[in-house]
Amino acid sequence: MNRVFSGVQPTGDIHIGNYLGAIRNFVKLQDEADCFFCVVDLHAVTVPQDPKILRQKTLEVATLYFAVGIDPQKSTVFVQSAVPAHAELAWMLQCITYFGELGRMTQFKDKSGGKENVSVGLFTYPTLMAADILLYQTDVVPVGQDQKQHLELSRDLAQRFNQRYGETFRVPEPFIGEIGAKVMALDDPAKKMSKSAGNPNNRIDLLDDARTVQKKIARAVTDSGSEVRYAPEDKPGIANLMSIYSSLSGETMVQIEERYQGKGYGNFKGDLTELLNAELGGIQSRYQELQESGKVLQFLEEGAARALAVAERTLNVVKERMGFKYF
Ligand code: AMP
Ligand code: TRP
Repeated sequence: MNRVFSGVQPTGDIHIGNYLGAIRNFVKLQDEADCFFCVVDLHAVTVPQDPKILRQKTLEVATLYFAVGIDPQKSTVFVQSAVPAHAELAWMLQCITYFGELGRMTQFKDKSGGKENVSVGLFTYPTLMAADILLYQTDVVPVGQDQKQHLELSRDLAQRFNQRYGETFRVPEPFIGEIGAKVMALDDPAKKMSKSAGNPNNRIDLLDDARTVQKKIARAVTDSGSEVRYAPEDKPGIANLMSIYSSLSGETMVQIEERYQGKGYGNFKGDLTELLNAELGGIQSRYQELQESGKVLQFLEEGAARALAVAERTLNVVKERMGFKYF
């Protein structure tokens, strides 16, 4: 059985880009693979966090994992900081990662651009991500398009370590879906939908209520003309909304174009709102049930114990290979 690993940061609010690009694929994979899904709170502190809010957001992401359908019986769901092996392996991998390699990471360049006081952690962030993945001897990593470069680094580091110290890590493959892998911002289709964008009209959050979704879709940038046609170059706003529609309904772009021929943007946006609210409504009612059940912490504790056992096995081999084994 294939091993799957992925992670989401407990910062900001989880939006439909995270859902369609990554988390929804987690649910599909859990029936065919041995899955590990992590809330990566150590990654979150690469930028300043309020400890209380961080804890609350970590539990929120974990609850959302379960609410979208990740089953704690089938998948191992846990919080990164509960398994010390992540930070330990990250250090060892940092010592085989080149400064130039990390300097070329586009996410680091975007996030650090122009700032004086960025943390060293933000710079080495991709090495911690590699440690997450390699500890579990992962075959497949489901992520959105924006993580592709980080995944390539994880592969390079696995190969480099194996070459230097002998076969230790499996070399992971990315799994990037075709539609939904890059959901763009509603207020600016040239940018990706993002947790860190200041304007909440940038995105639709999984916990947005029906009225908020309706308002955000009504305000979403469309293009000149009134035709519902898939043309990412000429009509990036409508193309993005069509991708969201398509990932939710399973219809192809051609089918959507036919359905809205001569009907204009208003009709299309109304139906998209309904599709979104149907999907989010189900997630939100499960979210509430989970919160009321008080079971999330127990699921996470069991998850951490399972993760720890697997991670320790790899870490022990790494220590032996690197000359850190005495007893
Ligand atoms: P993050 O918000 O950076 O913790 O991302 C969690 C997951 O969601 C990662 O797999 C990302 O690649 C994915 N993701 C984030 N933003 C988007 C987006 N706008 N479209 C598609 N996937 C995304
Ligand atoms: N860097 C990822 C993001 O921002 C989150 C992440 C951390 C991750 N560790 C991972 C994703 C391991 C996949 C596998 O989205």
